[in-house]
Amino acid sequence: MTAQVATGPDVQATVEEQLVKSRHRVKTYGEVLTPRHMVDRMLDLVQKDLECVDRTFLEPAAGDGNFLVAILQRKLAAIERSYPYEEWPEASLFALASIYGIELLEDNHKDAKLLILSTFLRFHEEREVPCGPRTNLYRSAAFLIDTNVVRGNTLTGRDWRGREIQFSWWRRVEGSPGVVQREPFAFSSLREGAIDFNVYPDYEACRIDKVHEQGRSNG
Ligand SMILES: C[S@@+](CC[C@H](N)C(=O)[O-])C[C@H]1O[C@@H](n2cnc3c(N)ncnc32)[C@H](O)[C@@H]1O
Repeated sequence: MTAQVATGPDVQATVEEQLVKSRHRVKTYGEVLTPRHMVDRMLDLVQKDLECVDRTFLEPAAGDGNFLVAILQRKLAAIERSYPYEEWPEASLFALASIYGIELLEDNHKDAKLLILSTFLRFHEEREVPCGPRTNLYRSAAFLIDTNVVRGNTLTGRDWRGREIQFSWWRRVEGSPGVVQREPFAFSSLREGAIDFNVYPDYEACRIDKVHEQGRSNG
C-alpha cells in the first residue's frame, strides 16, 4: 500500500508502508497498521511526556512496533538535546526501560523487538557511541526489550505459553545514579487499579547497563 507522508509543511514524500498484510489478518486479528504520519500526529499530542526519559508508555496491541519505535525516537531526541554526551548510554537505557508492549502474533512481535533494537543501536552508532554485540549497552538494551515487549494476549492477560503476563518496573535507586531495581509484577494487576509487586521475588539493585546479567527476560 502506498501512503502519502507529510515530511514538512510544504513537502510530501511518498513511501511504501505495508498497512495491511492480508484480509485474513484484518478479519481475525484486526491488523491494520497506523501510517507513520498518523503515529507522529498522535504522539504530538503527548510530546511533553515524550521529553521525559522515565515517562511510561504501554502499547497493548503493538503490531510491528511502529508506535513503540516512534516513542523511542522522540525520547532519544530529547536525551540528545538535554543530556551531555557521556550520559546518553545510561539515559537511553532508562528510556528503553520505560517502553512496554504486548503483541499477539509471533511475526509482529519479532519485528517489533528487532525494530526497537535497531532504532536504539542506530542512534548510538550514528553518534559514535560503542554499541557492538559484546558491549553492555547492546546486551542490556536487548534484554530490556525482551523483558518489556511480550508476546501475549492483552485481553486475557496471558502470554503465548498461557502463563500470566509478567512485566517489570525498572525503578531508579535514589542516591545511586544509573542504578536500577527490577520489580516484577503481573500485568493483570494494572487492571485491578494498583500494581501488585508482591507476587514475584525482587532482584538485586544493579547498574542499568548490567541488567542482562541478572537473568530471565520474556524473550
Ligand atoms: C490494528 S493493529 C494495530 C497495530 C499498531 N498498534 C498500529 O497502530 O499500527 C492491531 C494489532 O494488535 C494485535 N492484537 C490483536 N488482538 C490482540 C490481543 N488480544 N492482544 C495483543 N495484541 C493483539 C494484532 O496482531 C495487530 O498486530
